[in-house]
Amino acid sequence: MNTISIHWTPDLAVGITEIDDQHRQLFSLLADFYTNLQKGAGRDVLAKMLEDLMTYAGQHFIAEEAYLKDHPDLAQHRQQHYSFIKQMNQYERDYLHGNISLSVDMVKYVTNWLQGHISGTDKEFFSSMQSKAE
Ligand SMILES: [Fe+2]
Repeated sequence: MNTISIHWTPDLAVGITEIDDQHRQLFSLLADFYTNLQKGAGRDVLAKMLEDLMTYAGQHFIAEEAYLKDHPDLAQHRQQHYSFIKQMNQYERDYLHGNISLSVDMVKYVTNWLQGHISGTDKEFFSSMQSKAE
């Protein structure tokens, strides 16, 4: 059985409750999606869940970028968010056009992206904003 562990872990904390809660929620939406995928949920259900995940991710990126608006490297950070959305839109389009089935590969991509982006980029950006504020 191919199982992926999808949950927020304390080592991913950036120290801003609102953002940490949103990251937690992203993992939770993805975990729900994965559960439904494993259960063999229908196309419509999965498409709707993916849509909800993407809507939430978009709102989260806006909130996060607002926190980081004075960071000198915000443009690079925003580019990472943009690349993620672009990749997800591609998955979504391929799925809706019947070119692919939503798969564990996509879930793995999102899990790895979230973990890598939060630990590699978000944590660094938020800690440099906080040290500047002190
Ligand atoms: Fe980010």
